[in-house]
Amino acid sequence: MKVRKAIFPVAGLGTRFLPATKSSPKEMLALIDKPLVQYVVEEAVASGIEQIIFVTGRTKRAIEDHFDSSPELENHLAEKGKDDTLQAVRELSDMVDIYYVRQKKALGLGHAILCARDFIGNEPFAVLLGDDIIDAPTPCLKQLLDVYEHYKGSVLALEQVPHEQISSYGCVAVNRITDRVMEVTDMVEKPQPAEAPSDLAIIGRYLLTPAIFPILAQQQPGRGGEIQLTDAIKRLSHDEAVYGCLFEGQRHDCGDKLGFLKATVDLALKRDEFKDDFAAYLRHRLC
Ligand code: UTP
Repeated sequence: MKVRKAIFPVAGLGTRFLPATKSSPKEMLALIDKPLVQYVVEEAVASGIEQIIFVTGRTKRAIEDHFDSSPELENHLAEKGKDDTLQAVRELSDMVDIYYVRQKKALGLGHAILCARDFIGNEPFAVLLGDDIIDAPTPCLKQLLDVYEHYKGSVLALEQVPHEQISSYGCVAVNRITDRVMEVTDMVEKPQPAEAPSDLAIIGRYLLTPAIFPILAQQQPGRGGEIQLTDAIKRLSHDEAVYGCLFEGQRHDCGDKLGFLKATVDLALKRDEFKDDFAAYLRHRLC
């Protein structure tokens, strides 16, 4: 069955980016001139997703406004003859069908996914986390979809991370099938490096079968007292095969301040309009 729908859970509290995220969403932090969430919506659309549901919470209204039409702003841009900007603003509200549901309490990522169950129904679906920005020749989600079409099971995006950093991620044990595709045999959320079964981290892109929902509905709180998606996927892997895909591309963890800074520099150095000036500035600062 074709994967048409995607869940964007954005109801987390964004504590690593306080105070910037006290009253405005982490996903609206701007990387150069676009909010983080727009990069990720563009990736979903480029991968063929037709409908998106945001799982939102308090302080997240700016996300709805960002993807809505804005007649006042559009009139103003039209009057001033700013046609390129007008087109960019209009494209935003026409990009894809977007729906919203509230997670009333931030009980964890697994719980956030469960909040979108009625919208998804009995179809496979994608989950994209708005703070992982992935710069890739083939959109990361499309890479996962290709694995899904071939193996017909849930697929997790994986990244090899430095051993000492594995405790920040969900971690998997795997049997390799090809260089980039593997079957997941075990999962553990944020293990101590000594207890980690590998250095393969689960990052913020998932393709899941709807069999995850009854498991999530029964899932007890795990690490940090939160209902963990990783715990539910581990149980799913006992019932059906779950695959991992070592995606090709560069991931930026923009939920983290240093990761966000690095992403800004990398993306700026790729933009024709200021890459030369910016590179010259950086060279000047560093010598
Ligand atoms: P994180 O673990 O990154 O948490 O959530 P966070 O709240 O966004 O950020 P920090 O760590 O406190 O700085 C992973 C993803 O799951 C969503 C978040 O919005 C983020 O996209 N999430 C998390 C929810 O939607 N609901 C929750 O209850 C928890």
